Amino acid sequence: MERKDFIEKVGLSAASILIFGCMQGCSKSDGPAPANPTGTNNPNPANKVDFTINITNSPYTSLNTAGGFYVDRTNNIIIARTLTDEFLAVSSLCTHQQVTLEYQASNNRFVCPSPPGHGSLFSSTGAVVNGPAASVLKQYKTTPTGNSLRVYEL
Ligand code: FES
Repeated sequence: MERKDFIEKVGLSAASILIFGCMQGCSKSDGPAPANPTGTNNPNPANKVDFTINITNSPYTSLNTAGGFYVDRTNNIIIARTLTDEFLAVSSLCTHQQVTLEYQASNNRFVCPSPPGHGSLFSSTGAVVNGPAASVLKQYKTTPTGNSLRVYEL
């Protein structure tokens, strides 16, 4: 093999190694993390409850009356209208054994019906008044505007 041929072959091999190494080193998995379009380092608003209902439309018409309540089984939220026309919203599942709660307007509190539940009582803000439930209910914000009611969490 002549010197010129030797250099050409060695040069091609070296170039191949360099190119292969560069391709591995420049692959996407080793590059900087891509920008996160959903901003998971911050709270993701898409995961927060935030909906608006028209209380004059079915199935929400029970909220047209003071003392009425409605259970949103999609979001597991009980929405109540107090006798003084305030709107409350808390988790509709008892923290004892997940039985669906009811609103007791005369006492402005949420009740776990017995049976099938065991009679726990929660305040209008979801605090435990009487067990056996030991944990508070999640509370949601409500903003009424005309016939619309927005239920959301911050
Ligand atoms: S499930 Fe509500 S008190 Fe037991």
